[in-house]
Amino acid sequence: MSSQLARHWPAAAPAPRPSAAMPAPAQLRETTFRRLVLLVRQTCGISLAPSKRLMLQTRLGRRLRATGLEDFDAYTAMLTGPNPSAAEMQAFIDCVVTNETSFFREPPHFEYLTSERLQTLSAGGSGGQLAMWSAACSTGEEVWTLAMVAAAAQAAAGASGGNWSALATDISITALTRARRGIYPAEAIGRLPQTLASRYLLREGGGETLSVAPELRRNVRFGQINLMDSRYLPGRMMDIIFCRNVLIYFDAATQAAIVRKLCAHLRPGGLLFLGHSDMSREGQAPLRLLRNNIHERLED
Ligand SMILES: C[S@@+](CC[C@H](N)C(=O)[O-])C[C@H]1O[C@@H](n2cnc3c(N)ncnc32)[C@H](O)[C@@H]1O
Repeated sequence: MSSQLARHWPAAAPAPRPSAAMPAPAQLRETTFRRLVLLVRQTCGISLAPSKRLMLQTRLGRRLRATGLEDFDAYTAMLTGPNPSAAEMQAFIDCVVTNETSFFREPPHFEYLTSERLQTLSAGGSGGQLAMWSAACSTGEEVWTLAMVAAAAQAAAGASGGNWSALATDISITALTRARRGIYPAEAIGRLPQTLASRYLLREGGGETLSVAPELRRNVRFGQINLMDSRYLPGRMMDIIFCRNVLIYFDAATQAAIVRKLCAHLRPGGLLFLGHSDMSREGQAPLRLLRNNIHERLED
């Protein structure tokens, strides 16, 4: 599957709502599961363990009903055949990925990005504008947290708006659509410090939903980038890249290859943030581990 920023997003057939009258769910046979495991690995890099068969059967059951195909064999044949529907392939990927995320997830990462540190980072880059990339942004909480931290640092330094920008990318169009929308239930605040929440999340719908402030929206753009692509086109060199809690789904060789590709878009002195459960990549790429899976990009 090829991808690029701001691509056209085709719509797959909508999944019908479950009803009591629906027939018993189709079974995903072991051989069909194995073909799908291969397809998942080829398209999004994710290694699905044998224990995930039931999970996949449940999630793909929605796609069977939406496409009207008879069983998982027919569905798999359609996806692996000569002319797979791009929209259905996207819907398939959406069924496979895990989108768990939250605002201010792994607080030490955001706490590390103090005003002083961000100023040094933006001064060390080109053009004095801090460039950040959330490379598996899921539904957006990560990139909006980064945006809040950067905007608050900018305000603390007395600078006017616009000296930072953020790119948020993911393989999942459904997740990207929600990320760009930037509207969350009030309880999603989670561990986000109150100072950031009250300043950058506007209460709507009688206080039940939170909408990201326009001053953040202006500086964030969204697009689809598949980390499995042979090269990425994020548009510019980055000072900060977050690629958290996604490498864990890939095998070791794929993880190392992705980190090397990300490093090609991170300027020397820039920072790569990996998730708490992702393996440190120091030694396999031009990176020096600072702390908490925060790596500094070294000169080649
Ligand atoms: C568990 S979420 C992590 C979200 C966020 N980075 C965080 O740490 O909270 C993993 C995300 O990786 C995305 N993903 C999985 N495979 C991907 C790939 N090959 N390319 C880009 N994104 C991918 C999924 O769609 C999902 O949104």
